[in-house]
Amino acid sequence: MSILKVAQLGNPILRRNSSDVPLPMIQTPDFQKFIDDMIDTMHEYDGVGLAAPQVHVNLRVFTMEVLSNPRYPNRADYPLTIVINPVITIINSDSVGDWEGCLSIPGLRGFVPRTFSLNLKGLDRQGKAIDLSLEGFPARIAQHETDHCNGKIYLDRMPSFTKLAFQREYERFHLDKLPNPEK
Ligand code: NI
Repeated sequence: MSILKVAQLGNPILRRNSSDVPLPMIQTPDFQKFIDDMIDTMHEYDGVGLAAPQVHVNLRVFTMEVLSNPRYPNRADYPLTIVINPVITIINSDSVGDWEGCLSIPGLRGFVPRTFSLNLKGLDRQGKAIDLSLEGFPARIAQHETDHCNGKIYLDRMPSFTKLAFQREYERFHLDKLPNPEK
């Protein structure tokens, strides 16, 4: 397994629309190794999610996991989940704001409104259908990562940059001061 290089803001690959993963590709050793490498890369950089375009592959697949993450303290755990060809359906369009970071935009945090609850369909790494109802932080991650598959980044979702902060200032002035309706 390997740690993959993460594309940084400004790299055009982050702005491309990614293609669906062809079904026959899913079970191939190369693709399965790629999934393992994505998981290793997410863990290496303390991400709670990673989408394939972030590691220079324009395919619609992402990983997500929340497990005692130092970059996102006080979050409920969410198990490691691989989503191939994600499709999001909004259940309730009420949105809630929270702070996000991105491994492709190191050193910054932004306050982003996102839909609170949604349905996420797709395939797991074996190619089996998944159908998840997500709320709160996991729903936020799914939206952030699906955005990456569509060439979007969280900055595009911010109505204002008044709540865009460097990591240090985020920790000084904003962390733990947010009434969090998601917990
Ligand atoms: Ni990101």
